[in-house]
Amino acid sequence: MKKINKIINLKNKRPIVCLTAYSKPFAKILDKYCDIVLVGDSLATAMLGMKNTHNVTIDTMIQHGISVKENLSNSLCVVDMPVNTYRNIRQAKKNAKMILKKTKCEAVKMEYNKKNYDIIKSVVSIGIPVMGHIGFTPQHFKKFKVQGLIEKEQNDLIEQANKNQDAGVFSLVLECIGESTAKAITKSLKIPTIGIGASKYCDGQILVTDDMLGLSGFYPKFVKKFINLNNIIEIGIKKYKKAVLDKNFPSKKNTF
Ligand code: KIV
Repeated sequence: MKKINKIINLKNKRPIVCLTAYSKPFAKILDKYCDIVLVGDSLATAMLGMKNTHNVTIDTMIQHGISVKENLSNSLCVVDMPVNTYRNIRQAKKNAKMILKKTKCEAVKMEYNKKNYDIIKSVVSIGIPVMGHIGFTPQHFKKFKVQGLIEKEQNDLIEQANKNQDAGVFSLVLECIGESTAKAITKSLKIPTIGIGASKYCDGQILVTDDMLGLSGFYPKFVKKFINLNNIIEIGIKKYKKAVLDKNFPSKKNTF
């Protein structure tokens, strides 16, 4: 609970820095810089090459959750509950407990779909910290669309945000939401908002790490490529290929 309270207390103090990780090497680096590391179900698309997040299993999420959590000591570790693992109260409580027990993460993330208020509340009620998620929620939307650009949608999203807060979530991801709506939601909540494509007016920011490092090939408007790792990796691979073909590798130094 100490780490959760630390995140809540950052609201109105400084922006909350969050990124996704699915593996040990990334977790080790992110732990030095991030307040929250999310083992997102974006694992399905960013790492496993799936078309969407709909087929990633809870066992896969747990496996990656373990690799990440074992390598974090500072950042708060949140693991996504994949689609169809929280369809009712009983199932949600059982699966949230299992994710926490097996990965030792501090919290789970659940996408809000207007029908699962009681389900989210029930998970919070057994002492499991939940991060909420509204706006463009990939588990429930088929087609990409920025949310909250018209008044009707804005009011609806403000209501959804407040519902999540009532349910007891400790923070709320706002995905692909127009600037004025994100600003209004952030102002109306006591808990921090974490934006992805939701403007600088959120209390924190998150991106899929593979996207912002130029690894995934997925670069919509809200993603800034902070470095092009694809190019850097290619340089290394080309050097390796040349060394093998030229018989310069392995050298004496690499030989027993
Ligand atoms: O799965 C994920 O990585 C996410 C973030 C983009 C918020 O849900």
